Parts: sequence; C-alpha cells; structure tokens
Amino acid sequence: MIVLGIETTCDETAAAVIERAADGRARILSNIVLSQVADHAAYGGVVPEIAARAHVEAIDLIVAKAMGEAGKTYDQLDGIAAAAGPGLVGGVIVGLTTAKAIALVTKKPLVAVNHLEAHALTARLTDNTPFPYCLFLASGGHTQVVAVLGVGKYIRLGTTQDDAIGEAFDKTAKLLGLGYPGGPQVEKEALRGDAKRFTLPRPMQHRKDADFSFSGLKTALRLEAEKIAPLSDQDVADLCASFQQAVVDVVFDRLRAGLRLFRAEYGAPTALVAAGGVAANQPIRTVLRRLAAETGTVLIAPPLDLCTDNGAMIAWAGAERIALGLTDTLATAPRARWPLDEIAAAKGALKGTAAYK
Ligand code: KG4
Ligand code: ZN
Repeated sequence: MIVLGIETTCDETAAAVIERAADGRARILSNIVLSQVADHAAYGGVVPEIAARAHVEAIDLIVAKAMGEAGKTYDQLDGIAAAAGPGLVGGVIVGLTTAKAIALVTKKPLVAVNHLEAHALTARLTDNTPFPYCLFLASGGHTQVVAVLGVGKYIRLGTTQDDAIGEAFDKTAKLLGLGYPGGPQVEKEALRGDAKRFTLPRPMQHRKDADFSFSGLKTALRLEAEKIAPLSDQDVADLCASFQQAVVDVVFDRLRAGLRLFRAEYGAPTALVAAGGVAANQPIRTVLRRLAAETGTVLIAPPLDLCTDNGAMIAWAGAERIALGLTDTLATAPRARWPLDEIAAAKGALKGTAAYK
C-alpha cells in the first residue's frame, strides 16, 4: 500500500510517501519537511497568519517534491492522508484542502488524520511496535501519557494542567534571551551549566495520577533569574541546566506513575514510546530509557526527524487506517481542537476507572 501524507498543522509544511507491506512493515519513500522557523523567529513563537500564508505558498512544491523523490505517480497511490487537526486552523485548511483536491481528481480514498494519532503511531512506522504500549507525547502543544491500545483506541492517562512541556522550554528560552524554538537552545546551554546551582520545584511529584504542571517551575525560574539580573553567560547556562534537570526529574516521576496506571488497567506495555519534538532532548531520552529499564520494558524513541512534525507519520497513520477500511469523505472539516481521546477529554467520564483512581 502506497500513501501520500500531508502535514500543515503548525509551522512545518511537510509531505511524504510511505509504503506499507501486508505484514505491517513500512518503508519511507520520501519525507520532505520545509520549516518556517525563520519566518517566525522574530516573534518568538508561531504567528498563525504568517504560518497559513507560508503553507499556501509552499504546499504544491512540497507535495510535488515528495512524489518526485518517491518516484511514484498519483495513479500508484492507494490513498491520500492529511492532518485534519488539531492545530492552527489556517494551516490545517491548506493541507486538508490539498489532499481533498488530489483525492477528488485521482478518485483515491482520503484519510483525515488526527495529528496526535500520527505521533502516537510513529513507533509502528519505525519499529513495528505491537499494541498495547504506553506513549509519552511531548511537544510544543501537548504533554500527555496515553495508553495506545489499537488504531483509534487511545486512553489518556495523564496530561498537563497548564503549559505543555515544549512550551515550558520555549518560555524559558525567551526569558533568558535565547532563540526560538527554545528546546534545543536550552539543551545546548545546559551542557555547560551547573544543574545544582538553583533549587527549583518539581511540580506534581509523588502524586498517584500521571498529570503534569509547569507553571510553578516557570515562575520559580523567573524569580531566580530576576534575583541575580543582569545575567552573565554562566548564569544563563546554570539556569538552563537547573531548569532542564527539574523537567527531567518531573518526567521520570510522572511517567513512573503513568506506567503504574497503565499496568493496573492493561497489563504490561510492549514498550514505553516517546513522541513529539521534546523527545529529541537527550537528557529526557536518557531518563526515559532508565525508567523503561527499571520498569521492565523498553524505550522506543523514533529518530529525531520523525519525533518532530513530518509527513511520514501522517502517511503512516493514513495507511494504518486504510488497512482497516477507515477512510473519510470529502466533506470532512478541519479541526482546531481534536482530543486524541474524545472520552477522556470529558475527564469526568474516566473518573472512577483505574486511570483516575
Ligand atoms: O512536535 P513538535 O515539532 O511540534 C509540535 O508542537 O507539534 O514540537 C516542538 C516543540 C517545541 O516546543 C520545541 O522547543 C520542543 O519541541 N523541542 C525541544 C527540543 N527540540 C524541540 N525541547 C527540548 N529539547 C529539545 N532538544
Ligand atoms: Zn506535533
């Protein structure tokens, strides 16, 4: 099965062609990503209007490039998948409309993919990971622990009460005058910093649930920075190192709780799977590997270019859905909000189950 995937939910215009064999094994035939980082850098974050316009300008070329590099014609496709949300709706419209147009002309099936589902299923694209597994989805917009039980079967075990983890990295970078996106900058600065210099809180530690909170950590960091301003280069590095260590400790503690909830309800997971841009962070990867080993499972962390937003993950999620006969109509609407687990989105629905005991 050969599927074209299109991703435009945030600040990457991406398209890819993948091949899925009958036994579920995958091959990435092309994976083109055009980052808009430079367009947004001056604003310290993604500007929706700029993003939407940049997607419109780039999408045709990126899709043509993905098809060309894969060496496939539209006739050879078995389906066209696009991320239909959640995300910045101006961008989502661009990708989804493009996919609809191709589907209409080629008379091939359309799959409207949930962007979070695509991150969740990436471990199957890269490692053929069997269900059920415990997913840690950590990006600029999301921090979730999810039980991935099957295609379309996701139970959210924990989430953040305020900032997403990548957002916390980005805000820290902004506060300290580092560039955007902040995660890689903070990680780089932390390398030459003293993680023990500042005492920062580890929010939510030791709670039974698997929820996160980063606003208190962010405030504590700001107060420490204000106390010693103006900041030297070493101060910045020490603040980054102390912040990153706090995040690493929080991730360890919260995921340990998440894995406990997982086991109580679904038995042993086949793996702990990391996904999303923050999974590119090496100290976080290291602590996840340690946690997996300690809890008798393995860590599956996709290569960095498949952790951050890309078209291959959309194409793969599309292929998984097509294999199960799950396709969408041309009337499918783009969605700014689209929780991975619609049930857990109404948290009350899960209260009383093991996940929220
Ligand atoms: O998944 P992603 O590419 O886009 C979405 O948010 O969907 O994730 C981007 C986020 C940004 O907040 C960025 O700062 C963070 O991932 N990030 C990192 C690292 N690389 C990217 N955070 C910490 N360490 C990194 N090395
Ligand atoms: Zn993403």
